[in-house]
Amino acid sequence: MYSQAKVIAGGLAHIPVVIAVFYFILTTFNKRALKFVEESKAKKPEAKVVEPKKVDVSKAESSKVETTKTKITNVEAPKVVKKKHADVPVNIYRPKTPYEGTVIDNYSLLKEGAIGRVNHITFDLKDSDPFLNYVEGQSIGIMPAGEDANGKPHKLRLYSIASTRHGDNFNGTTVSLCVRQLQYEKDGETINGVCSTYLCDIKPGDKVKITGPVGKEMLLPDEEDANIVMLATGTGIAPMRAYLRRMFEATEKEKNNWNFKGKAWLFMGAPKSANLLYEEDLQRYLADYPDNFKYTKAISREQQNTKGGRMYIQDRVLESANELFNMIENEKTHIYLCGLKGMEPGIDEAMTKAAEEKGLNWAELRPQLKKAGRWHVETY
Ligand code: FAD
Ligand code: A2P
Repeated sequence: MYSQAKVIAGGLAHIPVVIAVFYFILTTFNKRALKFVEESKAKKPEAKVVEPKKVDVSKAESSKVETTKTKITNVEAPKVVKKKHADVPVNIYRPKTPYEGTVIDNYSLLKEGAIGRVNHITFDLKDSDPFLNYVEGQSIGIMPAGEDANGKPHKLRLYSIASTRHGDNFNGTTVSLCVRQLQYEKDGETINGVCSTYLCDIKPGDKVKITGPVGKEMLLPDEEDANIVMLATGTGIAPMRAYLRRMFEATEKEKNNWNFKGKAWLFMGAPKSANLLYEEDLQRYLADYPDNFKYTKAISREQQNTKGGRMYIQDRVLESANELFNMIENEKTHIYLCGLKGMEPGIDEAMTKAAEEKGLNWAELRPQLKKAGRWHVETY
């Protein structure tokens, strides 16, 4: 028989069990709610200029990094490489729902006597919602107005972004491009490229359909003491212009708080001196940062290579083989190649010869540099 006291004691004994069950339900619910909030945050693009977190590789969590080793003994890959640039924005705007940006500026980058037409074009992004943010080394898509021969809207064309994320006016709401008008002769007729002509002709105030941003191939490393070798032909200077502004432009440096301490070496190919792009800025960076910036030009129709042919950047690479490969042996050196697709075989050949002079095998070395995230190519 149960006494009243026993019943009360039995009831009291169940209280901890009830509390434990209640606590379990509460914590499970909280965890799920937190996870949902984190996931929602991750999906939403940032509506402001984002500076990447500085990466202290020595403290990087092992789950977020991968370790790379290289077979070649005297060219080491970085010990840790960021697995994914998860914080880099992509495809905020797609072709079905592009952002209509307003043209702020469109001017020629060429001097008198230059060949062709190359323009610097800036778009206002401030009304984009979600905000169209981007980082140096990315591209945007442009959808030219009008229709193709089949009556369909023109497809988008990609253009490398030539501005830093803070924009040319440093207010963080513009994007700039460096565009060459495509022109070629066919059956005695001059053919103008659809999108490049559209872009070179647009006027301030015009609305332009923009997609993107896209691309993670040409991103700069976070390390302030990285070395950056840049091989550019023509408009291939676009991403390099953004890198160099990030490194050396005074107001930009104040904004980005990224104190570049490495060496930046630009090899630039242009047909004539009058075709050199952003030349005044580059000369200013040379004067201001002689220890950090080196600038080597190949002016194909004014200079000759040792064989008496047109001077191309690969000829300059060969001239500088020793110094260049000393840099490449440093695991903090990244190489960026941008511009004409046609230059790739020539660059490969030059790198092969240059590597041989150092007793290295470029065919083995290049894939290792690529794997280590140090060899970046965007040609078109
Ligand atoms: P289209 O009207 O599309 O004509 C191009 C077509 O014309 C070619 O596909 C080919 O079929 C034909 N064609 C071209 N040349 C000849 C020839 N000599 N003889 C016969 N037929 C020919 N461009 C820039 O100016 N600046 C940049 O920063 C830039 N960045 C880029 C970044 C990326 C990632 C990529 C993929 C491309 C980039 N481009 C850049 C190139 C750009 O996307 C366009 O391809 C270029 O502007 C030409 O487009 P279009 O509409 O004017 O030419
Ligand atoms: P060129 O046209 O004299 O043969 P732009 O885009 O302003 O025309 O500049 C491209 C530069 O790249 C030019 O100097 C051009 O020289 C040069 N170039 C052309 N073909 C190659 C190639 N295969 N390798 C390297 N540079 C090249």
